[in-house]
Amino acid sequence: MYVSENLNVNEKGNLTIGGVDTVALAEEYGTPLYVMDEDLIRSNLRRFHESIKKCYRGRGEVHYASKAFSCMEMCRIVASEGDGLDAVSIGELYTALKAGFPMEKVGFHGNNKSDEELAFALDNGVGHIIVDNISELERLEKIASSKNKTAHIMFRIKPGIDAHTHQFVMTGQIDSKFGFALETGEAFEAVKKALSCKNVKLVGLHCHIGSQIFDIAPFEAAAKVMLEFIAKIRDELGYTVPGLNLGGGFGIKYLEEHDPVPFEQYMERVSAVVAEECGKLNLEQPYIYIEPGRSIVASAGITLYTVGARKEIPDIRTYVSVDGGMADNPRYILYQSEYEAVVANKAGEERNEKVTIAGRCCESGDLIGENMPLQHAESGDIIAVLATGAYNYSMSSNYNRLQKPAVVMVSEGKSRIVVKRESLDDIIKNDV
Ligand code: LLP
Repeated sequence: MYVSENLNVNEKGNLTIGGVDTVALAEEYGTPLYVMDEDLIRSNLRRFHESIKKCYRGRGEVHYASKAFSCMEMCRIVASEGDGLDAVSIGELYTALKAGFPMEKVGFHGNNKSDEELAFALDNGVGHIIVDNISELERLEKIASSKNKTAHIMFRIKPGIDAHTHQFVMTGQIDSKFGFALETGEAFEAVKKALSCKNVKLVGLHCHIGSQIFDIAPFEAAAKVMLEFIAKIRDELGYTVPGLNLGGGFGIKYLEEHDPVPFEQYMERVSAVVAEECGKLNLEQPYIYIEPGRSIVASAGITLYTVGARKEIPDIRTYVSVDGGMADNPRYILYQSEYEAVVANKAGEERNEKVTIAGRCCESGDLIGENMPLQHAESGDIIAVLATGAYNYSMSSNYNRLQKPAVVMVSEGKSRIVVKRESLDDIIKNDV
């Protein structure tokens, strides 16, 4: 009935998530509130890792992209499922470390890592570092040498595939701040250089072609390009790169009309291409990694708000204002991303109005969405915005000195706080 499968309506007519009454959650923990369904997160992780194991005959693993939603409890959940982690800053690494995450299962990303971050990764036994550019390679070699360590690295490659056009194209991707270009020979030169470094071991190549992608074809094309590159390296440099990370980017359902491909289908089709290409190139199949972020957590999350003002502007629109907005969900103001919303305490009723849900920041563009079908919302009602589990909490800010909301996890009908709501003292804690 609603866009995410874990949502329902109970006998009171209230929206439930993972079987828990959202109106009761709003009462207990206050609003705005992020609510995440642990059982759905775990089931998504399992679907990915079971299908990768099956399709690649045990030679593959999932690295959850923690930029989508990171906190210590999330790291613990990923660890307990036996999956790895993609971290993109010292902050994400530190979160994992403090959560007791097995650091050898972490891949460290970033297009502009500092020396401090590289040293931190080496000191804390991060599994591999995904090197983005030559200066990073040079700095890493120096740092690793000074510590008498060998840094395991992958190279981030731009496979030349733009997955965000109507029909994906294989040009135009040189213009990206991420990674090494294939077309110019830059990637090949980097590999050559890495093979001559004493304190660096090249364990893989990496590509990531974009996010919220519904098509399988660009993923297949990227896998093909990457395998051809691995074969070229073997033929010309005599080294077989053992690992291949195919990135994340799998689309999810934000709106009823979205029709994402089931993860299993993606895995089956891409693994078939990998097997076929490896056969053609006479290449031993590399160990495969994937890095889903959004597809693990987005549908598992909702945000609860309390309605304040309702403003009907005749013949223009109706604004329904909530106690959060761009500070906890900047995705509409940034990308005009669309969401489905429900009045949680009227979830059994028809959504027969179309409204603009506005945030509380001093900014006209601070909206959760426009033209959103909604039940009649009045002051005091609870609004749930759906599928907010990815890139909401992780992209939240303290704009207007708003306190970041708490994050509550629900599982098997129970709820618990996993990130506390910021206090007013948190707001001033670094002020001098
Ligand atoms: N791997 C790498 C190297 C990435 O850069 C990303 C996302 C992922 C994996 C995970 O992609 P996912 O499976 O979540 O699509 N803030 C934007 C999304 C930015 C994605 C950045 N990179 C949003 O809110 O839509």
